[in-house]
Amino acid sequence: MSNKTMTLTDNVSGDSWDLPVLDGSTGPSVVDVRKLYAETGHFTYDPGFTSTGSCESKITYIDGDAGILMHRGYRIEELAENSDFMEVCYLLLHGELPTADEKTGFETAITYHTMVHEQLNYLYRGFRRDAHPMAVMVGVVGALSAFYHDSTDINDPHQRMVASHRLIAKMPTIAAWAYKYSVGQPFMYPRNDLSYAENFLQMTFGVPAEPYKPNPVLSKAMDRIFILHADHEQNASTSTVRIAGSSGANPFACIAAGIASLWGPAHGGANEAVLNMLQQIGHKDRIPEFVRRAKDKDDPFRLMGFGHRVYKNYDPRAKVMQKSCHEVLGELGLDDPLLELAVELERIALEDDYFVDKKLFPNVDFYSGIILKAMGFPTSMFTVLFALARTVGWVAQWKEMIEDPSQRISRPRQLYTGETERAYVPIDKR
Ligand code: SDX
Repeated sequence: MSNKTMTLTDNVSGDSWDLPVLDGSTGPSVVDVRKLYAETGHFTYDPGFTSTGSCESKITYIDGDAGILMHRGYRIEELAENSDFMEVCYLLLHGELPTADEKTGFETAITYHTMVHEQLNYLYRGFRRDAHPMAVMVGVVGALSAFYHDSTDINDPHQRMVASHRLIAKMPTIAAWAYKYSVGQPFMYPRNDLSYAENFLQMTFGVPAEPYKPNPVLSKAMDRIFILHADHEQNASTSTVRIAGSSGANPFACIAAGIASLWGPAHGGANEAVLNMLQQIGHKDRIPEFVRRAKDKDDPFRLMGFGHRVYKNYDPRAKVMQKSCHEVLGELGLDDPLLELAVELERIALEDDYFVDKKLFPNVDFYSGIILKAMGFPTSMFTVLFALARTVGWVAQWKEMIEDPSQRISRPRQLYTGETERAYVPIDKR
């Protein structure tokens, strides 16, 4: 604990207060304002939390200016190149890379939790076949708390770990079934002889009529996409999970809240929005028109897949995603005009002063939609895959919050600008 402080001075009363400054292991220090209201009668004010640290965490570090993303100290580029999703899940949950035995034990625990209660099967039939799969995910994941009462006591470390394993393990099954239901195909059950990514692809694209043969390039690309989406500090959906969990809500309900938040087009829904945007642009001759609209303050149109609250440099995930994009399209022998359009849009945007000055670079969502489309996923499934991968990050951050001895319910205050007190007026006097 440093003894650094920052002094706050009221220029009317002349009062001043010394606020403690806390240093992390790296990155910006924080001004500790926990006692500010008690000492000054003032709240801080930071809608959108652009300058607010909501918690202490050891899981993920982002340096937005340098374009750095690390999980437990390991750079995302190294994890994407050398690790696999199960190992990254273990790292996020436990803080260290697993030994070979630890990894085998973890993979076995996950593999043997991939099936869901058979009654859940009936839940899907309550939805219309054309329901958006994200609506199905919010509903079905929220319903898990009705089936797994033996892992909802958040104060029991064993139940917390079981709930964590169940959520990570069951999301591929639930997500694949959301897709199967939308296309009217029979649900495929998990297979214990396949890897996490292979199993998900098998449940999604396999059919009972013939054996499923995993494609190693597509499985590796799927696994890498899961790694790139696993966690990302205190983003909107993770903060949603933390706030929901701070009330003591069960983990299944918290993750359902995270899925709901991720769905927004400004957040995880952007990958779907990017593909819709590229299809709307249609041809590179129309790019200048859309870049112009994106710069027009009176036009709500934004270049989806560009910009980020934290990254004011290239999102390191976007670079890995672009590389995977070329690999997958090469493997499939596809020559997707949307990829050419995306590369041209990126080039034009990054030469435009508006995007350069505002440091609006491609983010993780810019290329992911093109890969997923090439792999056969409908656009409506893109954010479902993001939610599937981010579940481990939500769960790891939820666990960290629950296990933080200083944890208390999250209850922000406000700047009130509404009516001051006034007397009730009977309706015949209004
Ligand atoms: C994800 O937080 C995370 O970590 C999220 C995520 C994760 O892994 O969890 O990384 C995943 O959500 C990635 C972001 C995906 N969203 C999009 O691609 C949607 C398009 N991007 C924008 O909606 C926007 O850039 C945000 C939401 C991503 C960031 O919004 P901010 O930080 O609130 O920035 P802002 O809206 O205040 O924009 C700053 C300026 C504004 O202009 P001025 O008012 O200053 O003149 O940049 C402009 C904006 O108009 N701007 C854009 C733009 N993004 C910002 N202009 C055109 N096109 C864009 N995409």
